[in-house]
Amino acid sequence: MIRDTNEFNDAPWRAIDRAEMEQTQSVPTMLAKREQKLYYWLTSHWTQDIGAVVDLGCFVGGSTARLADGHMDAGKSHWIHAYDRFKADERTKAAELYRKGIAPFKGTDIYWLARDLLEPWEERVTLHRGDILTKTWDGSPIELLVMDAAKSTETTDGIAERFFPHLIPGQSLVVQQDYFHWRLPWIPVQMHLMKDWFRPVAFCPDDTVIFQNIRPIDDKALTAGKVSDLDDDALLGSLTEVQPLARTWRRKQRIYRMKRAIKANPGVRTGYLMVDPDKL
Ligand SMILES: C[S@@+](CC[C@H](N)C(=O)[O-])C[C@H]1O[C@@H](n2cnc3c(N)ncnc32)[C@H](O)[C@@H]1O
Repeated sequence: MIRDTNEFNDAPWRAIDRAEMEQTQSVPTMLAKREQKLYYWLTSHWTQDIGAVVDLGCFVGGSTARLADGHMDAGKSHWIHAYDRFKADERTKAAELYRKGIAPFKGTDIYWLARDLLEPWEERVTLHRGDILTKTWDGSPIELLVMDAAKSTETTDGIAERFFPHLIPGQSLVVQQDYFHWRLPWIPVQMHLMKDWFRPVAFCPDDTVIFQNIRPIDDKALTAGKVSDLDDDALLGSLTEVQPLARTWRRKQRIYRMKRAIKANPGVRTGYLMVDPDKL
């Protein structure tokens, strides 16, 4: 049975009072304010505690804290697994940590900082350190999969192979935090290619789109959604097919920008290597 997602149309997370999630404010995050509320709402209101919550690309745990706080407030017991390389260069440390109240420190390792920041939720969170492509999943059901690490086509396919088969059809959500990011056009393309397995449920500014898994993910689904073998024309063609969906959220311009990015960066499949087409 496919769970009704009509309530998403009213973006009920907007009504969450930030005081409810006050404890999370000490954990720096790259999430927009509305996305933070969404994450808290998903684990406090939507999930039914029938599978794990997986946070891919948690940085110092900002997203994990919002997920864990909702999970804790709702008294849920399934585990939260957060993955990251847990490395940050000086520029990222200055912009994302020191500016947000973390005292300066030496080196690039942020694992212990994340452990420390997530201490209020430590009885429900496991951190997995290292490249996601070196990890395996234990095969248990995943009820909520939050994705902020699909920064290349290789990682995007690697994540799909490792985690999508364990989603619970009809219930599980995939939160694509970078769906509308111009540097990562393969994300909307993959979700479009897997449209028989995922249906879009809501958009949450700045960049997030939420999908519901509606059919079991098998080899056929993974083959259909593979993005690493696609050439630029195939990416552009798929993006044209994504435009009507983007239009429903008045975000068609974001798809146009992705198309300009592909044309300005032929063959590039890693986000940080993409040159901004609008600054050329
Ligand atoms: C935009 S940041 C995440 C922000 C975070 N979700 C928050 O709430 O602040 C993206 C993270 O993904 C991680 N990442 C990207 N690719 C990865 C990979 N292949 N394996 C592990 N972590 C990865 C980076 O280390 C980085 O911390």
